[in-house]
Amino acid sequence: MPDRPVACVVLAAGKGTRLKSRVPKVLHPVAGWPMLRHVLDTLATLGPDRAVVVVGPDMKAVEQAAGPWPSVVQPEQRGTADAVAAAREVLAGFDGDVLVMFGDTPLVTEETLRRMLDARRGGTDPAIVVLGMRPDDPGHYGRLVLDEAGGLETIVEYLDATAEQRAIGLCNGGLMAFDGRRLFELLDRIGDGNAKGEFYLTDAVAVARAAGQACAVVEGSAEEVHGINSRADLAEAERLMQNRLRARAMEGGATLTDPESVFFAADTVIGRDVTIAPSVVFGPGATIEDDVEIRAFCHIEGALVQRGAVVGPFARLRPGTDLGPAARIGNFVEVKNVTLGEGAKANHLTYLGDASVGAGANIGAGTITCNYDGYLKHRTEIGEAAFIGSNVALVAPVRVGDRANVGAGSVVARDVADDALAIGRAEQVEKPGHARRYREKKAAEKAAQARRPK
Ligand code: UD1
Ligand code: CA
Repeated sequence: MPDRPVACVVLAAGKGTRLKSRVPKVLHPVAGWPMLRHVLDTLATLGPDRAVVVVGPDMKAVEQAAGPWPSVVQPEQRGTADAVAAAREVLAGFDGDVLVMFGDTPLVTEETLRRMLDARRGGTDPAIVVLGMRPDDPGHYGRLVLDEAGGLETIVEYLDATAEQRAIGLCNGGLMAFDGRRLFELLDRIGDGNAKGEFYLTDAVAVARAAGQACAVVEGSAEEVHGINSRADLAEAERLMQNRLRARAMEGGATLTDPESVFFAADTVIGRDVTIAPSVVFGPGATIEDDVEIRAFCHIEGALVQRGAVVGPFARLRPGTDLGPAARIGNFVEVKNVTLGEGAKANHLTYLGDASVGAGANIGAGTITCNYDGYLKHRTEIGEAAFIGSNVALVAPVRVGDRANVGAGSVVARDVADDALAIGRAEQVEKPGHARRYREKKAAEKAAQARRPK
């Protein structure tokens, strides 16, 4: 069957009671993204004509996270069929296939969605294609009952299932693809006469079959439909997602010495021949170009690390960091909103914030940009090939010129010209013999104290 338009309905009205959280379930992060964003990111790969997120009342934050797609409110949580029905107006006149997805199931892949759509469009022109799976522990999932020909006959929810039905290993992963022209007439015929007193979307299968329409199953991995209901489920989703992201980085040509201890964000970009040592954590917005070495115990977020740079161990790159090619950020260095030119170095115990550092500049140990005056942030500019000695405080706004030197221990509050030397520290005084005289005096005092009666 030729390609037909696709619409997606994402169910996200659930309060997620079992997470015991003030935050709506679908906004809890997995790999640095709200789980809803994973679902939206995956459905976007299908290029759907329409998509809509079904939210509960008072879920403004979820509506915002749904953008650019519209949301509709399901006023009362009366079950998954009622939730899809809330999208009726958004889908009015839609003539294509409708994918129903869950906002709390972030691991589903594009490939699986495409297989469901292909099955919907092929074979017996089924009214519904259900994503099935065979988890190790079928637990409380709905069970898929097949007919003799292997078609899908009905779905029974666990609470409504007989002992015989509960013994079925093939479970409902939750996602379904519908023929959009038949979707709403099926929903209209679903009742709430079941254990939960809800309108089950799963009942659409029995309704379709009763009307003589075919239904089919596409099987996927249980991992993909791992749904999040509890904090333990959330941790498991994180684990599964991290394993995927680690595999992706390694397939892309990066070396991870200890993959299990490296944590990526969903959008981390890792180039080729990048080496990542143990215990490195990426927040959102990090791009690591080819040939970069990330040493152990680094935290990197919102940062571009250009080709050949070396970072860490124990470095923190915060948002707005742009490390030029072959730049070096060493141990106990924090960098925020800073551009470093090619080959620039800050190797030890330094804070660089709201600054630009020219190519080839060297920032000595213990240097601090004093970017905050208690009210406003100010910028520090350090020129190309400048040399900042150890333990320098650069009081912003301030500029150190190209090739300028700043003496160790200086407090630099005024601009330094190109090629100049700035020293801002107390003059050194020397008292010849003073140390010896002091030593002798103290020894005499100590001896006198020892002779005094107790
Ligand atoms: C559902 C399926 C079950 C399947 C399982 C897979 C039904 C009736 N059951 O059960 O067969 O094995 O998923 O994970 O569909 N939601 C709303 N409004 C509502 C109710 C639910 O938006 O009124 C949303 C929830 O926020 C959630 C999704 O629909 O994202 C699924 O609902 P949930 O209650 O978690 O269904 P399960 O009991 O897990
Ligand atoms: Ca669920």
